[in-house]
Amino acid sequence: MVKKIMPRAYDALGNIVVLKFPRAIILKDRKKFAMKFLEEHKQFKTILEKVEKFSGRLRKPTTKFLAGENTKITSYKENGCEFIFDVDKTYFSPRLSTERNEIASLISKMKGGKDILVMFAGVAPYSIVIGKKCKNCNVKSVELNREASKYARMNVQRNKLKNVEIIQGDVKKVSHKLGKFDVIVMPRPKLKMSFLETAFNVSKKGTIIYYYDFCKADKIDEIVEKVMKESKDCGKNINILNVKKAGEVGPYSYRIRIDFIVS
Ligand SMILES: C[S@@+](CC[C@H](N)C(=O)[O-])C[C@H]1O[C@@H](n2cnc3c(N)ncnc32)[C@H](O)[C@@H]1O
Repeated sequence: MVKKIMPRAYDALGNIVVLKFPRAIILKDRKKFAMKFLEEHKQFKTILEKVEKFSGRLRKPTTKFLAGENTKITSYKENGCEFIFDVDKTYFSPRLSTERNEIASLISKMKGGKDILVMFAGVAPYSIVIGKKCKNCNVKSVELNREASKYARMNVQRNKLKNVEIIQGDVKKVSHKLGKFDVIVMPRPKLKMSFLETAFNVSKKGTIIYYYDFCKADKIDEIVEKVMKESKDCGKNINILNVKKAGEVGPYSYRIRIDFIVS
């Protein structure tokens, strides 16, 4: 019987494709698949494979070179913006592009110029898509990872934006210096800490918060209750505006987004 070599997952990041194979497939077969893939998809120049999941506070993946040009730096386009980054040194998910567009559209419909805080900003895809779509907004983009912040600054220049400021640091430690915000975007890493107290410290009456979390489909209500309880513990009243699934992250597991307003 001919063995079928099929990757389990596939992410196209500009010229680079990152594949994830089932464990049973040996290196020789993975390389063979990668070379054939490049031959058949001329728009790609490099094939990497994901060897570990996103890990640690910085959510950096680990990839291994398989075929083509040996590089981990790519240029990726979405929502009319361009991002360069190192696939191994920064977090980037093309699967969030619809979310970024949706958040930017929601903000662009709000009246007047707004002060926006993007926490956990990575190489600044949320910040830049928002900054580009909402020209009368000022965006502050906070990210812990130095390497990601370096690319974020390059990406702001590349997209010719004057309304996006990159701040490198732990959002818990730096946010109090940044003032109060009309909108706070929280594309949280998959970690236990909610960072809601940090968000409330820089919110005011009327601030809209877009909060991301991860859970199984039947646990969404529990996450909403957790957010309500933490808000109460911080002495804040909130009104939930919307709760939605924002993409599948595993079998029956979802990234969810809770939109709420501080009242
Ligand atoms: C899930 S990624 C989101 C990246 C980005 N928003 C995007 O859409 O590509 C989470 C990011 O949060 C950053 N991070 C983790 N803890 C942080 C903290 N305390 N302060 C600021 N950034 C943090 C990580 O380095 C990582 O880049």
